[in-house]
Amino acid sequence: MMTVDVGLATRAYPIHIGSGLLAQAGKPIAPLVRNGRIVVAYDRNCADHLDTLRNAARGLDLIPVAIAPGEASKSWAGLQALVSSLLDLEIERSECVIALGGGVVGDLVGFAASIVKRGCGVIQIPTTLLSQVDSSVGGKTAINVPQGKNLIGAFHQPRLVLIDPDVLGTLPDRELRAGYAEVVKYALIGDAGFYDWLDANLDRIMARDPAALEHAIVTSVRAKAAVVAADEHETTGVRALLNFGHTFGHALEAETGFSDRLLHGEAVAAGMGLAMRYSVERGLCPADDAEKVAEHLRRAGLPTGARAGGLNATGATLAAHMAHDKKREGGRVPFLLSRGIGAAFLANDVQLADVAAFLDRDTA
Ligand code: GLY
Repeated sequence: MMTVDVGLATRAYPIHIGSGLLAQAGKPIAPLVRNGRIVVAYDRNCADHLDTLRNAARGLDLIPVAIAPGEASKSWAGLQALVSSLLDLEIERSECVIALGGGVVGDLVGFAASIVKRGCGVIQIPTTLLSQVDSSVGGKTAINVPQGKNLIGAFHQPRLVLIDPDVLGTLPDRELRAGYAEVVKYALIGDAGFYDWLDANLDRIMARDPAALEHAIVTSVRAKAAVVAADEHETTGVRALLNFGHTFGHALEAETGFSDRLLHGEAVAAGMGLAMRYSVERGLCPADDAEKVAEHLRRAGLPTGARAGGLNATGATLAAHMAHDKKREGGRVPFLLSRGIGAAFLANDVQLADVAAFLDRDTA
């Protein structure tokens, strides 16, 4: 088992990563248990993982609270239902709730934990690649509202994160590929050596080779932990790097109405391809790097441009979505651009009209 520490002084916490960890979760959870019980809010599709956790935590009163699978649970109604369950259970501030599931469950449970009695603890046990390498770490929690995705939320760091790569064995291929896009993101923003390793080991990762998956997860989580420790609340620009590909990607997701037509990771892959090519157009990035990345994403079965998910939106339509980006400040939308593989940076001088024209020229 590997441990990555998130260095946040009083909010510091460990991320344990290891094959078979879920079956041994009783030990790391034990010091966080109060009143001899622990509430587990779990994705109803993760009933098998709940059983494994129950066996691992024998001797504890494990109280399951089921959450319906799918993005619809990350809503006012889903939040109200979960918060009511936690209050009915008379959860105390010193207790932790376990979030067992993918990004939807992690975001929802984390947000509920941040507001119940002004905040109780949360332990994240992510069960998808995307949530293992991204959303379970760093304390971003949220629900979606009619005005947009993730617009209501809080920073609420978990007390512990447990990542067991073995649970990915049953993840559908499409979700594995989508989660992999976030792994590639860490390489593109700051680690050219990791990119070379991913390029050499892509087939092993897609074949779910345990050692390759574990290395990809550990490297990603280390990168994320370092960024979060440096800029917990995304105020200095460091954490903003984690949004590489996301401004383009969110516009594509918005165009699908945030439907399954394009999974978040697929949109991020397309967004990263676009960010690389836009950077080439602006004379910032070697064309060869953008081509290499597009080829890598294609090999991973991921989209690389605005035609992702069969979309055919105009540049102006996509730019209009970008204008509503929640990271907009002073009327400007911050963009993550690239000087090459491993060298992303935050640009504040990007004009949406220029991006729209680029999108109309780009054919991927
Ligand atoms: N997923 C981006 C972040 O955690 O900041």
